[in-house]
Amino acid sequence: MAFRVNSVKTSFFGKGAVSLLIPELKKMGVSRALIVTDPFLYQSGAADYVGEALSKAGLAYAVYHQVQPNPTVTVVNECITAAKLLQIDLLVAVGGGSAIDTAKAASIVTANGGRVEDYEGVNRSAKPGIPIVAVNTTAGTGSECTSFYIVTDPVRHSKMAMVDPNCMVTVAVNDIELMMSMPPKLTASTGLDALTHAIEALLAKGANPMTDRDALWAMETIWEYLPRAVRNGRDEEARTRMAYAEYAAGMAFSNAGLGMVHAMAHALGGHSNLPHGVCNAVLLPYVIDFNAQHSAEARERMPRISAALSLPDGRPYTLVQALRRTAAEMGIPGTLKEMGGVSREDFGDLAGLALKDACMADNLYTPSADEVISVYENAWTGK
Ligand SMILES: [Fe+2]
Repeated sequence: MAFRVNSVKTSFFGKGAVSLLIPELKKMGVSRALIVTDPFLYQSGAADYVGEALSKAGLAYAVYHQVQPNPTVTVVNECITAAKLLQIDLLVAVGGGSAIDTAKAASIVTANGGRVEDYEGVNRSAKPGIPIVAVNTTAGTGSECTSFYIVTDPVRHSKMAMVDPNCMVTVAVNDIELMMSMPPKLTASTGLDALTHAIEALLAKGANPMTDRDALWAMETIWEYLPRAVRNGRDEEARTRMAYAEYAAGMAFSNAGLGMVHAMAHALGGHSNLPHGVCNAVLLPYVIDFNAQHSAEARERMPRISAALSLPDGRPYTLVQALRRTAAEMGIPGTLKEMGGVSREDFGDLAGLALKDACMADNLYTPSADEVISVYENAWTGK
């Protein structure tokens, strides 16, 4: 078995880890940065917290603070324009997946030319993007350590999934100081996104012993510490463990791939602008149930997930029920109907989008359009 593992060159972890950037930035030989963040983090002072480290390292910087959840081509293009006008040589993403993915897209297009849309798919760029420092504020998307990024095309109402090692950040920072103020709902949805990464990575076609190790450890850790982080955001140990686990889950899926949960969640997010973590958390049990019925290989791997979650047996049914119960305890809707923002009439279009998504190719079983619709239906009715 031969396989490739991509990883970020340098990653910093722990409370106050942003300060470790100062000597690192001095070594990088960069002088002009653009901080890429969202309006909330800009106003909350998170961008200033990182900006202070940039100043101490001798960098001049400007701030682009218009990133939105499910960032669109328009947002990325604004960021590219700012980067070119200001002649920056470093992008500094401050935020969760939306800010980091915006920076990745801007980095690739700035270095390679063309349009964002040109890079949809797998390995589409010729050369690495301009350097990125990713200061992650959620736990989370794992975007700070993955070779994936997602941009919404507002014309086609779809999410474009880009898989490309050239987009990987140069330095990743997981400073829990920036994660402590996440509200319980965001902690839950981003944490369950990370759990979905770990589970899908273990069930992906590209799984290997290295990614299995990261995925299983991430599942075990998230299962233990996410409920604590949701209950008490100031629980430093829970926040710290979650930061490690979401990174490990990111490493796992970046190198193994994802699957049908993400393909279906991307379709929902792009079509109806729904939050990524919640879409995954709602869909996960229904897709596990579907994959258990249709793929012998998936069924064979599932007891390893159940063991990592300390479930009493390895049956897919027990796993599905445990996932549903845990999500409900964290305030996640049990069905798409309860979640809202989407209607049953959209399922045909959504299935078409999900089948085209790059993550679907990683699923052990390739479903038909009718089968994808049936999973959306189950997730609607709670069957
Ligand atoms: Fe995700």
